[in-house]
Amino acid sequence: MTKLAIMGAMEEEIEPLLEHFKNIKITEFANNKYYELNYNGLDIVVAYSKIGKVFASLTASTMIEKFGCDTLLFSGVAGGINPKLKIGDLIIANKLCQHDLDITAFGHPHGYVPEGSVYVETSKELIEVAKIVASENGIKVIEGTIATGDQFVHSMERKEFIESTFKADALEMEGASVAVVCDALNVPFFVLRAISDTADMDAGFDFDEFLKSSAKNSADYLIKIVNKLNK
Ligand code: ADE
Repeated sequence: MTKLAIMGAMEEEIEPLLEHFKNIKITEFANNKYYELNYNGLDIVVAYSKIGKVFASLTASTMIEKFGCDTLLFSGVAGGINPKLKIGDLIIANKLCQHDLDITAFGHPHGYVPEGSVYVETSKELIEVAKIVASENGIKVIEGTIATGDQFVHSMERKEFIESTFKADALEMEGASVAVVCDALNVPFFVLRAISDTADMDAGFDFDEFLKSSAKNSADYLIKIVNKLNK
C-alpha cells in the first residue's frame, strides 16, 4: 500500500476521522474537497462524496485515478436488516450489490446488468485485518452482505424485498458503487458501516438521532484498522 483512500458519504461520517489527523492539505476537485495528509508515515486521502451511488463512484474514481490511492476503506452508517444488528452495531461487507438496479423486464435477476455481476466481493485480506483488530480490542462486528441503492429505505415492504431478494444484512446508498469502481480498477477495498436505523417506519427519525454516534463508532474502529495496516 502506498496511498490509502478513506471515504465516507456525508460530512458527519468523515469528521470523526479527520480529528485524528494533523497538517491536512485540502484540494478542491470536481465540486468536492479532498483532504491529503500523512499519518505515521502513511499517505492518506480522505473525502466524503455526498449521498448516493453517482457521487460515490465519482469520488472513489477520483481518489484512485487522480490521487493515486491503491487501497480504499469506506466508513459510515447503514440501515440494519439482519435482526442481530442493533443501532450502533458494526457490519463489514464481504460482498455488496445494487438493490435498485432492475432490468428484470429482460429476464435478468435483480441487481444484474450484462457484463456485470449481482455481487462484488471485498478484499479478504482487509477483512482479515479488520477481524484481528476487532478481536484484539473486544469489538463486536459481523461480516455480511450490504445492499446499496439510491433510496433512503423507510418501509417494511422495501426492506423485506431487499432482504429476500439479496439476503442482505444491511443497506445503504454508496457501498456497491464504490465496490464496482474498486473492483474494475483492481484496488483492494472494504466497506465498514455502523447501524443508524433499521430501515423501517422509524428510520428517518432514528437516522437523525443516531447518525453522529454511529458514524463515530464506525470511524473509531476504522482508525484502529488503519493503525494495524500501517504496522
Ligand atoms: N443509511 C443509513 N440508513 C439508511 C436507510 N434506511 N436507507 C438507506 N441508506 C441508509
